Amino acid sequence: MTDISQLESDLAARVDAAADVAALEAVRVAALGKSGQVSELLKSLGAMSPDQRRAQGPLINGLRDRLTARIAQRRAALDAAALDAELAAGRLDLSLPASTRRRGAVHPTMQVMDEMIAIFAEMGFAMAEGPDIEDDFHNFTALNFPPKHPAREMHDTFFLQADANGDRKVLRTHTSPVQVRVMQKTNQPPPAPWIASGQTPPIRVIVPGRTYRSDSDATHTPMFHQVEGLVIDRDIHMGHLKWTLDTFIARFFETSSVETRFRPHHFPFTEPSAEMDVRCDRSGGETKIGQGTDWMEILGCGMVHPNVLRNCGLDPDEWQGFAFGFGVDRLGSLKYGMPDLRDMFAADTRWLAHYGFSAYQTPNPATGLS
Ligand code: PHE
Repeated sequence: MTDISQLESDLAARVDAAADVAALEAVRVAALGKSGQVSELLKSLGAMSPDQRRAQGPLINGLRDRLTARIAQRRAALDAAALDAELAAGRLDLSLPASTRRRGAVHPTMQVMDEMIAIFAEMGFAMAEGPDIEDDFHNFTALNFPPKHPAREMHDTFFLQADANGDRKVLRTHTSPVQVRVMQKTNQPPPAPWIASGQTPPIRVIVPGRTYRSDSDATHTPMFHQVEGLVIDRDIHMGHLKWTLDTFIARFFETSSVETRFRPHHFPFTEPSAEMDVRCDRSGGETKIGQGTDWMEILGCGMVHPNVLRNCGLDPDEWQGFAFGFGVDRLGSLKYGMPDLRDMFAADTRWLAHYGFSAYQTPNPATGLS
């Protein structure tokens, strides 16, 4: 019969001698594993007579318990030693300079959007949003585009695949459809919480958002950003529009000396209509404002067409208004001197690091610009 106390002192010596966790585990398996020495002893109890079992049982079980405790103790000692070694080896020198981390930057377009929102918020405008994927009604029909108007054609517009009824949705070509969503009298709840639903005049909203047209050169990108503005009230005239835009421009460029000009233009949804240009110099691979002989178009505007008011359920004899649509990326390129709009969306991190803004500097509607 196995000499239990001899076995115990052998195993105890091996546990104490285990130099690392792997060695300790090997001893544990050899003793307490499925066919370990102690496990085999436990199994042998089954074949013993009751008297033998009564004598041997406590001895063998005692051996197992003491051994298990000893292994746990050794394990704790080894773990503590390993941690001590790691701490000793990994000493930190707090006087060393920190390694530089790449820091993200706020994209100039987002910065400019925030600046615009802050300025218009100061001027009493609320904000509205609409979906990027629009239906023909909101993007064109309600805005008084005649059925065969060239802007509906493939040339400008990204069409989505037609549905079973033959209706084609579009990637909105401008933020003006949100004018309709804001003005439209409807008992329907908006399809999503962030989509503006009908409001009763007086209305003063701006609509920042992405817009899409099939166009690409130094001053056009297929995806670009607009900020739409809409004011509806009684006795609103072109003078209010011009004051609003001039005031905005002076605040945005932080000087009253920026030269702008209004050019007569045509939009189906405004009458009369105009475009506004800013004088700049685009020679020499940089865009400089306040000098030069170039003009950059930055917005379209006009008095809301009576048909649009009617399409939205407002009586043009009672309500008038003006609207404008800024090209945000262009405005940013003028203020911050980027020569080619396409670079804005090339996702070149060197460009972003150069032109980007600190996240700590973004303006917001509560604090205003500064
Ligand atoms: N939606 C026009 C465009 O994208 C701009 C505009 C907005 C013109 C509002 C007039 C009134 O070109």
